[in-house]
Amino acid sequence: MIKTIKNWALVSLTVMAGFSLNVQAAGGYNIELEKVHNNVRDTESLQRGAVHFVNYCMACHSAGLMRYNRVARDLGWTEEEVVSLLSYDQRLPVDYMTTWMEDGVSEALFGIKAPDLSVMTRAKGNDYIYTFIRGYYQQEDGSWNNKVLEGTSMPNVLEGVRRHATEAEFDQFTTDLVNFMDYVGEPSKVQRWDLGWKVIAFLFVLLILTYLLKREYWRDVK
Ligand code: HEC
Repeated sequence: MIKTIKNWALVSLTVMAGFSLNVQAAGGYNIELEKVHNNVRDTESLQRGAVHFVNYCMACHSAGLMRYNRVARDLGWTEEEVVSLLSYDQRLPVDYMTTWMEDGVSEALFGIKAPDLSVMTRAKGNDYIYTFIRGYYQQEDGSWNNKVLEGTSMPNVLEGVRRHATEAEFDQFTTDLVNFMDYVGEPSKVQRWDLGWKVIAFLFVLLILTYLLKREYWRDVK
C-alpha cells in the first residue's frame, strides 16, 4: 500500500516537473520580455484600453468571445454608452466584438488572417503582448521589423501614437491596452480572486469547527 502511494507520488511529481519545464520552454523567447504592470481592478484604465483596442486593433482583429453588453456591465458603462463609444457601425449591445475588417481582406493584405485576440493574453502572457506591440524597430532600408516576432506581417500600427506621445504616455497607452486584453481573456478574474479568499476563509473556519467536533467525539474514547 505504502509503496503504491510512493510510486504514485513519484509519478505525479515527474509529470508536474515535466509540465513546468514545458511551460517554461513555451515561454522561452529569445529576448527579454518587458514587464507590464497592469491592474484589472483599475476600471478607468480598462475603459481607456477598450477605446484604444477598438480604435487601433479591431480594424484587423476580433475579440470574438466578448460581447459589448458584458464590457458595459463590467466597466461601468450603460449599453448605449458602450455602443456609441466602442462601435462605429450601429452594432447592438448583444453583439460580439468582431473586427471591422471583411472576411478575406487580412489574407489578401498580409498573407495571413489576423488572429482573434479574445484569449491572446492567456495564450502568450501579458508581458509578451506588451513587448510585442512596443517591439517594432526600423531596419536599415526603412522598413519595420519586430524584435519579438521577427518578420511579422502585422504592421507597426502604434507608430503614430508613439511618435506623438511622451515615453510615459506611451507606457500608459500600451499598459491600458494590455490591461483591457487581460480583462477580455478572463472577464471574471476579479470575482474569482474575491471569491477565492472567502472560500479559503470559510474552509479555515470549517477546519476549526471540524477539529473541535472531532475532539468532542473522541473525548471518552481512550
Ligand atoms: C492592419 C491590421 C492589424 C492591426 C490594426 C493590428 N494587427 Fe495585430 N496582427 C495583424 C496580423 C496580420 C497578425 C499576424 C501576424 C503574424 O503572424 O506574423 C497580427 C498578430 C497579432 C498578435 C499575435 C502575435 C503572435 O505572437 O502571433 C497580437 C498579440 C496582435 N496582433 C496584437 C495586436 C494589437 C494589440 C493591436 C492593436 C494595437 C493590433 N494587433 C492591431 C494585423 C493587425
